[in-house]
This record gives sequence, structure tokens and C-alpha cells, in this order.
Amino acid sequence: MGLPLGMTWRCHFSIVLYTLFTGQIGLTQSINTNLPTSLPLGNGIYDATIEPQVEALLNKMTIAEKVGQLNQIGLGPAANAGGKNNLDYKDLIERGQLGAILGPESAKDINVYQHMAIESSRLHVPIIFGRDVIHGFRTIFPIPLGLASTWDTELVEAAAHIAAREAAATGIRWTFSPMVDIARDARWGRIAEGAGEDPYLGSIMAAAYVRGYQGTRLDTSDSIAACAKHFVGYGAAEGGRDYNTTEISEHTLREIYLPPFNAAVNAGAASIMSAFNALNGVPASANHFTLTQVLRNEWGFRGFVDSDAFAIKELIAHGIANDGANATRKALLAGVDMDMGSNLYHGNLVGLVHSGEVSQANINESARRVLRVKYALGLFSRPYANESNETQAMLRPDAIELARKAAEQSFVLLKNAAFLNGKPLLPLSDKLSKVALIGPLADDAASMLGTWSDSGHSQDVTTLRAAFEKRINMGQLMYAAGSQIGEGSADSDIDAAVNVARQADVVILALGESAEMSGEAASRAELTLPGRQQQLLERVVGTTKPVVLVLFSGRPLAIPWAFEKVPAVIAAWAPGIQAGPALVRTLYGESNPSGRLVISWPRSVGQEPLYYNALNTGRPFGALGQEKFSSRYIDEAKDPQFPFGFGLSYTTFRYGPTEVSRRELQASKLRSALNAGGTTALSVSTVITNTGSVAGDEVAQVYMRLQGTSVAEPIRELKGFRRISLAPGETKKITFNLPPEAFAMWDIRNHHTVEAAKATVWISADSARGTGVEIPIAP
Ligand code: NOJ
Repeated sequence: MGLPLGMTWRCHFSIVLYTLFTGQIGLTQSINTNLPTSLPLGNGIYDATIEPQVEALLNKMTIAEKVGQLNQIGLGPAANAGGKNNLDYKDLIERGQLGAILGPESAKDINVYQHMAIESSRLHVPIIFGRDVIHGFRTIFPIPLGLASTWDTELVEAAAHIAAREAAATGIRWTFSPMVDIARDARWGRIAEGAGEDPYLGSIMAAAYVRGYQGTRLDTSDSIAACAKHFVGYGAAEGGRDYNTTEISEHTLREIYLPPFNAAVNAGAASIMSAFNALNGVPASANHFTLTQVLRNEWGFRGFVDSDAFAIKELIAHGIANDGANATRKALLAGVDMDMGSNLYHGNLVGLVHSGEVSQANINESARRVLRVKYALGLFSRPYANESNETQAMLRPDAIELARKAAEQSFVLLKNAAFLNGKPLLPLSDKLSKVALIGPLADDAASMLGTWSDSGHSQDVTTLRAAFEKRINMGQLMYAAGSQIGEGSADSDIDAAVNVARQADVVILALGESAEMSGEAASRAELTLPGRQQQLLERVVGTTKPVVLVLFSGRPLAIPWAFEKVPAVIAAWAPGIQAGPALVRTLYGESNPSGRLVISWPRSVGQEPLYYNALNTGRPFGALGQEKFSSRYIDEAKDPQFPFGFGLSYTTFRYGPTEVSRRELQASKLRSALNAGGTTALSVSTVITNTGSVAGDEVAQVYMRLQGTSVAEPIRELKGFRRISLAPGETKKITFNLPPEAFAMWDIRNHHTVEAAKATVWISADSARGTGVEIPIAP
């Protein structure tokens, strides 16, 4: 059975706020957050007025021209693509045999190619220009793992919109984003590019990116087409090694890996990218089950599928095709419409039609999907970029301001222990006036940009050092790099840093990974601090000065020594161009940390893959009254260093008990409501109080567990969340109206349904805290 077309990841929140600290009912506010639900045709792509134009054009095209629409190549600046290659591309474009180009990033270059297509090709079909605009174009925001850590969908949508505005100004109307791969293994370098391990949060974020890029209409001058990638299961690479094989049961595929893609489709994503990995033996770029049965037949996706780069050619290396023609046939028939980079569709498809191995109908359908998106983007009426608008579209004040806010909200305060006079070390006291800024990442602009910042410039970055120099008197700031990020540090560098630390009142230690140490092809077998940074850390901490560790990384790092010995630790990810100002404001308490982990933070690499929404096992650790024969390690704890959803603040929050609106639910009624797209099945509420002395944002999270079902369900699953601001002493009541979807699961026959079960619901500060409330679901 298929996924119902209207399947939704919505959660309605209605929040009733009241101010207990004044002793009165103050403000009553009701907020409904409805995520896109019934847009299975792809909002913005499918427009009844476009279809006749697509058909009329298709009727005029030769097979070779249709195949041309399915051909994508990478090209650099027009001026450099000289010699023979340039002639080849020119020839391809003029013969209408190049539908899409990846690469050029200036309006001038893009216009050169577009003029060739519009003026010299027979049918004047515009080229679509795509690029990896992943966490900003020129204004670089935090890496997606950091953006997700904000748990702020409006912010993510706004950041994606700014990325779209800047990219579109250069003529790039298509981004290879969002990456919505669920990542449960921090060894995988691409964990940096996604929203972490949770399918619900991943779905909400996927939809936010799509809305941000595509806006309400694709044909406005600041909208670009999204491409949700990598379809599907890429993040489950065995051993966390990039490009490696994945084995995922259909149940897990549907419960964990598919939902964010479904959310992207429902939000109207114009395109999907097929992944590199083998999925249960069938490469994702030739997988009919996922690309056609699920994506087209069940979800009704009407945009186009692009292969990942060279993924069609790689079907030969995978072992399912022995030549280019077979790779082409398998990919196209499975459902890949466009060939990125392999040049195999161009070389083989016309021949395959003539031999009858691929039908004309197949070619028509793929070309139709590509043309549909080009029309929706308005490329036929407005093919060229406005060269005079390009520069002024970049780095506008609202973009820089949002980059700072996004960075601030992405920081996760992992530890803030009492240090001086029993007070937490952060925020920094003005009494600690002599500051030592130490570490290879304190002044490394390029690393602040993170993975996928091709159009970013390191000169746009304000580093931590530059921001400190603006903030405190020069005489009070001392700086030492201390070591390289990777190999190559000398003893004398570490000695010099220790000397600097000794003279200071407080040390800010900026350690972690460079931008290239995460992202594509950057898997790691160790999750330690690279190079000699651990040694630098231990020597600096050995001075007994108070140390704040600011950890820059594209993944969680397993550094238990640091979490034991360093009083304050902030996970800063790769924060983007406003890294320095955002961090300095955070360190001094002008911004109160509110980021929450979207990945379970490991103690040791041996715990990976590590995720909170795991199955219980028959022998869960701690439940048996004895440890020996329980599911555990004999040399490491089972639980993470920090759980999914975790993050501290400069204030503290107290949660009241979780309350539910009903004592019992009924599976049959929930099933009917599920099919009818019902909205509220159960209201779950609690009160949250700011018990500290400063204002702060809390991210309240609602979790559920189902027991007694036909397939074992995770020990907890996120079902909703809400970021709320609380003044000191303030209490708010928060209510989550859970839809029937929250109780649904994929059953033993892979049907999406609600079963009789015992449900437990929590509203808590993270995935490991809170006291659940049980509520039976009768048959
Ligand atoms: C390969 C990557 O896997 C994909 O994410 C990216 O969009 C393409 N290359 C194009 O750069």
C-alpha cells in the first residue's frame, strides 16, 4: 500500500500563554503552525496553464532535442571554457542538446551560455543553471547542521530565501539543496549538510528550505528551484564511509529515511536528486522502487529527478551495468530524468529509442518534467540574468543580520559549570578583563564558511579574533594560534600558547575541524580533535585558568576529556560569515544560547551509529536488574555524552507535568481521522517556567512511544516542538495538538496505519528527560 498523498508532517500548536509571575492571566495567544499538507502535486511546479505550453513545445521537438533536455554538464566561466571543449559545448547548446548546466556563478557567464541557447538553438529552449547553494550563496550562514540546531523553521526559511535572492541575481535558478538525508553516524562527513538524525525535525526543516528557496511562486525574480537530495538512504552508509553501501529495510526506509523527502515533495520541491549509494543491492540511481513506485506513484511527484554527479556512469562500477548504454537504460527506466555529468544519456538515449529498449513515451515524460520546471521558473519569458543587479543583491544588511542571528541560535551550550564563586563561567564577567584567545580556529576565516560555500568569500567573514578586537581593548586581548588544525604543529607553538594563557584571566580556546574535514568525501574513522589540538587543550587547561572551549566542527566530536575537565563548552559548528560577532555576543551574554542538538553526541566513535530513536532490544541496559547480559559495551557507556534535543541556556527552565486531553484513544477512529486528514487527535500540554535571572528561549519537545504494535517502534520519537521565549520568572503553558499522523506507523505489511497500542507521551527539554504519560489506544 502506498503512502496517502495527503500524508503530512504537520503538527498544530496552540499555545496559551499566561503570566503566572504577575499573578494574573495576562496575555492569551493562540498560534497555529500548519505545515504544508495537501500539495502532493508540487506547489509551484504544476500549473494547469503551463501544461499546454509544455505539450506544444514537446510536439515540436526531435528525439535528440528531448534527450538534450535530460543532459546536464558542468561548465566554468565562459571565458575559460576555451579550446576544443568550448566548441563542443557551443555546438551542443546550438543543437539544443544541453538542457542544464552546473557551475558558472556570474550573471555575465550565465548570460553568455543562455544567449547561445536562446538565439542559436532551433527551438530557443532556455538552459537551467544549477549550483550547490547549500547554506547561503554569498552570505554564508551556518552549515545546515547548525541551522537545524536553531529548531527555528522561520529562520531557516528566511536564510534559504536570502540564498535564493542572491543566487537568482546571478542567473542561478536551481539549487542542489536541501540535503534531507537522515544521518545517524557522525563518522559520515555529510552529517554536516543535513538536519541530523530525526525524521520529524528533518521533515519540518526540509519543507522550510523548500519554501524559502521557491517562495510562493517559482517565477518571481528571487525564487529558485529546490532539489531535495540524495534520494534515498545515502546517510546510512555502512561504517559512516561516504558513498558506501546501505542496507535499509522497507520499514525503516519508510519510517526514517523517506519522510523528509515526502515533506519536501509536499512543500513543492521542483526536483529530487538520486543518490550514489547502493540501497539493498540496487543503486539508488537505478532504483525503480524508490524513484517510481514511491516518488511518483505514491507521492505524485511531478518535478524531475536529476542524478547525482556521474551516478549513472557509476552504475557500471556498482556492478549492475556493463556498459554506458545499459547504465542509461536502467537509470532512465527506474525514474532518473536527467543525467548529471555522465554524458551517457546524451550518448545513448537516442540509440536506445531506435532499438526499442527505451520508449519514446519514456523520453517524452522525462523531457516534460524538465520543461515543466523551466516554464514554472519563468525561464522562457525571462531567460537572462540582470547583470547590473548582481552586485547589489549580495550581502545586503538584512542578510548579514540574519547570518548573525542564525549563528547565535545555532550555538549549543554543552557545558557551563560553576567556576568562580560558585557561578557558571559563562557569560563572561567583565572582571575577567584579560582574555587569551587561543587555537587554530580563532582566526581562520575559511573554516568559518564550512562545507559548500563555493560562492562565499573568506574576506566576508568576521573571525572570533576580529570580533574580540572590536569588543575589548587591544591591551587586554592576547592571541596565539597554538597549533595547526591538522598535522604540522611544532612544540614551540603549543608552548607559546600556554605562556599566553598563563597571563590571562580567562582563555577562549577555539578548536575543532577545518571546513574540509566534514562534508562530501570527508568521513572520519576517529572523532577526536585533529592534529595536536588535544595536546594543546590539555596543556592550556593545565594552567588552571578558566577555559571556555568553542568547538568548531561539522559533526559532534567524541572528546570526553574536554567535557570532564573544561568548565564551559560551546558547539559552534561552522557558523558562517558572522561567526565572530555572534560568538562574542554569546560569550558576553548579549545573546543567550538556545540551540539544541539535532544529533546524539557520542562519547566514543565505537558507539556509532548512535541515535535516540532506537529500538529497545529484548535486553535493554538498566532494565534487567543486572548488567552483564544487557545490550551495552563492556568498555563504554551506552548512552550518549549529550542526548538529542539537549542544550543549555544562561537561564534554567522548569517543566510541569505533561497533561493529556483524553484518557484513552481508539485506533479505528484514529485511522479514519488519518485518512480524512484530521487535525487534532490529542492535546498535550505542560507549563514551563524560567527559573533563572535572565530571559531565554526554550525549545519544548514532545515525544511519543508506541508499545504492543506489530513492528517494534522506537523508545521515543519526536512529534512536535516549539521555541518559546520566557522572561525571568515567567511561566507559559504550551499545548501541542497532535494530529492522527503522530500516532501512525508503518505496520508489518508496510501499511501506514494506526494500531492498538500503549502510547506514552512526554513534553520535555530533550529526548532523555521528562516523565511520560501513558495513554492506551484501544482497537
Ligand atoms: C555531488 C554531491 O553528492 C551532490 O550533493 C552535489 O549536489 C553534486 N555533487 C553537484 O555538485
